[in-house]
Amino acid sequence: MRIRRREFIRLALAAGAAAAIPFGPARARRGGGTTSTVTVPVYQIPLPRPPELAPSGTLDGKPLYVITQREADVEIIPGLSTRIWGYEGITPGPTLRVRRGEPVVVRQINQLPHNVTTHLHGGHTPPQFDGHPVDYIPPGGSKDYHYPNNQAGATLWYHDHTMDHTGRHVWMGLAGLYIVEEPGEDTLGLPSGPYEVPLVIQDRNFATDGSLVYTDNIMRGELGSIILVNGAPWPYLEVGTRRYRLRILNGSNARVYELVLSNGQPFIQIGTDGGFLERPVSRSRIRLAPAERADVVVDFGASAVGETVELRNRLGRGSTAMIMRFDVTRAEADGSTIPQLLYPFERLSPAQASTTRTFVFSGGGGRLTPWVINSRPYDPDRIDARPVLGSTEIWELVNRSGMFHPVHIHDIMWQIVDVNGAPPPAGEDGWKDTFYVPPRGRVRVIGRFESYRGGPYVFHCHILEHEDHAMMAQFEVI
Ligand code: C2O
Ligand code: CU
Ligand code: CU
Repeated sequence: MRIRRREFIRLALAAGAAAAIPFGPARARRGGGTTSTVTVPVYQIPLPRPPELAPSGTLDGKPLYVITQREADVEIIPGLSTRIWGYEGITPGPTLRVRRGEPVVVRQINQLPHNVTTHLHGGHTPPQFDGHPVDYIPPGGSKDYHYPNNQAGATLWYHDHTMDHTGRHVWMGLAGLYIVEEPGEDTLGLPSGPYEVPLVIQDRNFATDGSLVYTDNIMRGELGSIILVNGAPWPYLEVGTRRYRLRILNGSNARVYELVLSNGQPFIQIGTDGGFLERPVSRSRIRLAPAERADVVVDFGASAVGETVELRNRLGRGSTAMIMRFDVTRAEADGSTIPQLLYPFERLSPAQASTTRTFVFSGGGGRLTPWVINSRPYDPDRIDARPVLGSTEIWELVNRSGMFHPVHIHDIMWQIVDVNGAPPPAGEDGWKDTFYVPPRGRVRVIGRFESYRGGPYVFHCHILEHEDHAMMAQFEVI
């Protein structure tokens, strides 16, 4: 049976499911002028799927992927044209799909009018390929990033990391997915191919002419009132009565989401930022701070054909409480399974740690650098920690401010020891690279510095405006 979409739109509008968004709110408020309101359709645009990039040749015997960063005009809000900065001129950029243990080279060509640098978030990469904030690719230049992919299968992402400008560059569109597959992952029986769907969730604001509005909100971080998934506002996806694997990335600059399904059904979580969980866990709510990922399976076999299931954000209000909708439009056989044992991994124990370091995240810096770590704003010429290659360390992340900070550490994956003294909830007890540190809270994480000596590698708050202003520090592996 098909959903009668036209009728549904009328009902949906009557039910208030189209969002009337004041466009360009911050700019208009600053100027003291009036805001104009435009109605953006809700659940009427099909979910786009970022294309997967094929290698265009080889370099040093490794597959070579070529990505050109350029401006493009695209239609995000129906009827309006939006100038973006995109990898290959699209946002999100093309998805790269690689396999654990098979190295690749990604050539980034900068055709943008600004310096850029590209970081593989979650990538375990030698320091010279990490996309350090001042390792600029100038306009007209290019850089070859060699990625060893010597790490667990996981949903990673690549994004801009330019010193002082990351927030604006990512908001303009510079982000894309990078999927590492485990060898043999296809034999697990998880939903795959068309049933494996990436969801990149981002919030944005637009002016009435369609242009992106970015205000560099230093204190709260940039928050948008329009929710995009894979670059489309509040899209829908037609699904069959079967399981789907959803690789969810919070690619927003500053917004934290708590994801729920409108029918109360749980997500079956199978992976975290850095890899598979040992066993699947059932969770009715999943909180994702900026840069965090959740690999989940949702079984639409629990719904009847004709039903709809919304993906909602419990931390949002009005337009930001809605994310997307799944329309169950066909009966479909399900050949997939969720194995009860996924990939066992080593649990790091605090007894293995040779060093504990404490990093305090707080406000109180200068006017343009109000956010600091251990009282100091970021300085690319200062090394803040020198862990020893092969050693295991505990990092204690202390938040002395009244808002949360999603702390991200480059180079290696970590496990959460405790959050305010309590063990992490199921689903957050796997490999992670980004940690929600609650207001006035404390998170301890444990990790082992492996493979690469050198640096500098950065760590920072992943509210991108906090990172830019200047809640970032760096370490060097010795
Ligand atoms: Cu997602 Cu240092 O970045
Ligand atoms: Cu990173
Ligand atoms: Cu922060």
